Amino acid sequence: MRLPSAKSLRLYAVLSVVPAALLAAWALLAGQGQHVLAHGPLLAKHQGTACASCHIPAPGSTRQQIQAELRYLTGLRATPVDFGYQPVQSAQCLTCHERANDRHPIYRFREPRFRDAAQVVEATSCMGCHSEHGTVKISSGTTFCAACHQDLKLKADPIDVPHITLIKQENWGSCMTCHDFHGNHRYDVPNRMADALPLGSLRSYVSGGADPYGGFKQVRGQMP
Ligand code: HEC
Ligand code: HEC
Ligand code: HEC
Ligand code: HEC
Ligand code: HEC
Repeated sequence: MRLPSAKSLRLYAVLSVVPAALLAAWALLAGQGQHVLAHGPLLAKHQGTACASCHIPAPGSTRQQIQAELRYLTGLRATPVDFGYQPVQSAQCLTCHERANDRHPIYRFREPRFRDAAQVVEATSCMGCHSEHGTVKISSGTTFCAACHQDLKLKADPIDVPHITLIKQENWGSCMTCHDFHGNHRYDVPNRMADALPLGSLRSYVSGGADPYGGFKQVRGQMP
């Protein structure tokens, strides 16, 4: 039996990819298709947000995209093209969530010194820690502080179990029981472990539940 050539394999790939991509594009364009192909519901706070505020059409007409994709799959073009829609970019999130007070802004972590940290947590993109259409709101979990704060030392530590001890014990689960990540909530950071948030309330928050930091925010997402 003769094995299929690379060229005919690519042709099979074209034949199987194009209809799926067309279907996905149609689902985003046509109202009735939306709930069929959207991978799951939007975050509760995003209900009523237009699909197009996060999903930007890819450049070129559908015909141009199909042609470019065929050229790529048959080896006549070096790079693939975005079909129908571009991958969601942080820029889309920032149109509604631009916040000058963010204590961990994504642009900061593009500096080379955070390269190792980026292996642990993708801090340079909103999508590195957040997801939509899924069962979790914060996909990074709560213990990723370790990636950057291993060497943290406070001059005069105000808490009853000092940071240096927490870090020695590798108690990275404790950090978010006293600190929010973006620093956008208006609430008092406790000095005592006994006043920290219960771990269960954090677990519930990251997977979609109520906001344990009280929901008082300095800057709220904007609906344009
Ligand atoms: C708040 C932003 C946001 C909104 C609003 C939104 N999405 Fe998404 N969507 C995402 C993100 C993030 C992903 C993950 C994949 C990615 O990065 O492209 C995604 C993935 C998808 C995918 C899978 C595509 C793929 O390449 O994996 C489909 C289909 C989709 N969304 C459809 C919809 C539809 C239909 C709506 C409107 C009901 C919608 N989305 C609204 C952010 C959003
Ligand atoms: C069309 C405007 C808009 C876009 C685009 C948008 N958001 Fe939001 N988002 C909001 C609003 C409004 C709220 C509710 C007010 C608030 O909590 O700040 C919100 C709330 C949130 C929350 C808090 C949810 C909760 O239950 O506490 C998260 C997390 C979030 N957005 C992440 C994102 C990410 C990540 C993206 C990009 C994929 C994005 N948003 C895109 C408007 C938007
Ligand atoms: C390194 C992980 C990480 C990255 C990157 C990240 N977030 Fe978050 N985000 C979190 C965590 C953890 C929380 C929960 C703690 C809190 O509320 O600050 C959160 C909470 C939020 C909230 C709800 C609380 C609030 O501040 O209003 C919003 C909105 C949000 N993120 C938007 C964004 C947007 C927009 C981006 C990209 C510009 C982004 N995040 C990037 C980890 C991340
Ligand atoms: C990708 C690296 C990175 C990660 C991950 C990270 N941080 Fe930070 N964090 C920083 C940097 C950089 C600063 C700023 C330090 C400075 O300016 O000296 C900072 C500052 C802070 C501050 C002080 C802010 C202020 O205004 O004084 C707190 C509190 C903090 N981080 C808590 C956390 C917690 C809690 C986590 C985990 C949920 C976390 N960080 C994860 C890099 C990171
Ligand atoms: C019992 C509550 C509590 C816990 C648990 C806790 N912190 Fe803190 N943290 C504080 C307080 C209080 C301060 C000082 C006031 C402030 O900066 O808000 C502080 C300050 C900080 C600062 C700022 C340091 C500076 O020089 O300004 C960083 C960074 C930080 N904590 C990170 C962490 C990390 C990482 C963890 C987990 C290992 C953690 N914290 C656990 C309460 C806590």
